[in-house]
Amino acid sequence: MKKLLICLVGLYMIGVSCKHEQQDSDWIRKCIDVSEYQLTRMASQLAQTDSLPRSIRNGEVRLVAPRDWTSGFFPGSLWLAYELTGNDSLKFYARQYTRLLEELQYYKGTHDLGFMVFCSYGNALRLAPEQGDREIILNAAESLSSRFSEETGLIRSWDFGEWKYPVIIDNMMNLEMLFWAAQNGGNDRFREIAVKHADVTILNHFREDYSSYHVVSFDPETGEVESRGTFQGLSDSSSWARGQAWGLYGYTTCYRETRDQRYLDMAKAIANYIMTHPAIPEDKVPLWDYNDPRGLEAPRDASAAAITASALLELGTFVDDGKALFDYAEEILQTLATDEYLAQKGENGGFILKHSVGHLPANSEIDTPLNYADYYFLEAIKRYAQLKDIKI
Ligand code: GLY
Repeated sequence: MKKLLICLVGLYMIGVSCKHEQQDSDWIRKCIDVSEYQLTRMASQLAQTDSLPRSIRNGEVRLVAPRDWTSGFFPGSLWLAYELTGNDSLKFYARQYTRLLEELQYYKGTHDLGFMVFCSYGNALRLAPEQGDREIILNAAESLSSRFSEETGLIRSWDFGEWKYPVIIDNMMNLEMLFWAAQNGGNDRFREIAVKHADVTILNHFREDYSSYHVVSFDPETGEVESRGTFQGLSDSSSWARGQAWGLYGYTTCYRETRDQRYLDMAKAIANYIMTHPAIPEDKVPLWDYNDPRGLEAPRDASAAAITASALLELGTFVDDGKALFDYAEEILQTLATDEYLAQKGENGGFILKHSVGHLPANSEIDTPLNYADYYFLEAIKRYAQLKDIKI
């Protein structure tokens, strides 16, 4: 009788603890459920347009062509949502939207090819490969490499504007495709270019406190710095929130690909800068620029929060004291999962997250959904669920 009682109490305790675990991860399931609904609906509604959703402008979904720098994020989100749910409609649409980007493999007019091709074809190849995927990525790596110069040791970012040779901190995000290509049948040079770009960026883009300048321009003949400033931030000396997130994510990736301690040190220092910054609000979703004097009245940038969360979840696996990084990322995600940031099904123009900022100084995409906020949010949710061993 006593044994039976102990067994029953044991079973009850297991039941209670399972229920708690289930409740602990209910918010993750809700995020995935909303994402699956929004993405499937948006994909089917836009299927005939041959264009890709980027944000909301003047109350309408802003559609873009494949050469827009954000074109890879919508197909990429469809792939990530497919990975999280196993929903075959998402897989179907992911492939359909990915195919729109095929011509980009030969496009040499931007540094953003990593975003455009690796978020789309990179995920396609990983999750449901088709013949040609690998070659498309290798060709895109070749096109991206054509923008590298020995004199500067950097990949040129933009071809517009007055700068002689502009390089933006965002460009750190395009190196992952080069590392991948070098390891998967591409030229070894791709890896050398990625390493050189990351090294020269350490020397020139960062201030003493590990915040970064957005745009550094170089003399293309000598490689000397010509100017340091901003394009999308508040001022040349301010901390544009997404720029800090791109740097964090970029050096975390470089460490994963090289195991070079210097990159880990950079990623940790940038993480520390972000996590201890006095302007970061309690809910951990940063102001679009940390130095906006309006403080909490300034628009928030959910995209910077999502990129930061995803990067911290990976960085936390590389360091001994990873729990603080994990906890910070968890706080970000729990905020983004609230009604304040997460769309209601059928609303928010079909996007997943609300409240990001694209380019405030140009008065463009302020307090709007953005396709890259959604992409990095889904990636962070996936990483979180894997680390917590949550069964979806
Ligand atoms: N790469 C441009 C941006 O982050 O807005």
